[in-house]
Amino acid sequence: MSNFLDKLSIRQMSTDDVNSIVDIDTKVLGETRKDYWVTKVIKEADSRPPDASLIAEIDGKVAGFILGEVSGWEFKVPNNIGWIDTIGIDPDYQNRGIAKVLAIALITNLQQRGVDTIYTLVNWNDWDLLQFFHAMGFSRGDMINLVLKV
Ligand SMILES: CC(C)(COP(=O)(O)OP(=O)(O)OC[C@H]1O[C@@H](n2cnc3c(N)ncnc32)[C@H](O)[C@@H]1OP(=O)(O)O)[C@@H](O)C(=O)NCCC(=O)NCCS
Repeated sequence: MSNFLDKLSIRQMSTDDVNSIVDIDTKVLGETRKDYWVTKVIKEADSRPPDASLIAEIDGKVAGFILGEVSGWEFKVPNNIGWIDTIGIDPDYQNRGIAKVLAIALITNLQQRGVDTIYTLVNWNDWDLLQFFHAMGFSRGDMINLVLKV
């Protein structure tokens, strides 16, 4: 039996992927955020290295995406800090290793750009993402989030 992941291919995101990303986000969150993704994927594309935004495809269909960044890259002074901004896998394709392949591909690309430390922010209540990042070897960092309601 062939391995499901044999059908998986990883490529750089293009602005044409915005609708597929909106569809996955809608399936995951239950609400549609088209304007948000147009800003992230199209308007802000130049603020991220091209190989820091990746798409996972199964049989030509977009099954997931990851958006990363390198601190300082938009100012042409990249440093050693990279970020995973967002990861999303189509619920029909979750639990098959796609997010892991995407994250490893992004981390490899960031390392080749001189990154040695990767940050990400996860909502404390988002158990799926916390478990995923834990499985990827992430641990609690030394920054905390402060909030003031005004
Ligand atoms: C969290 C998420 C990215 C995981 O994607 P996935 O493709 O199912 O994850 P994988 O199959 O690659 O799992 C990789 C590892 O994480 C672990 N993992 C992933 N999700 C997990 C969960 N919910 N509970 C426990 N472990 C989990 C797997 O067991 C696996 O561990 P292993 O390497 O030890 O075998 C996916 O569920 C998702 O997209 N959730 C929504 C995230 C979100 O809100 N994004 C913003 C809007 S799009």
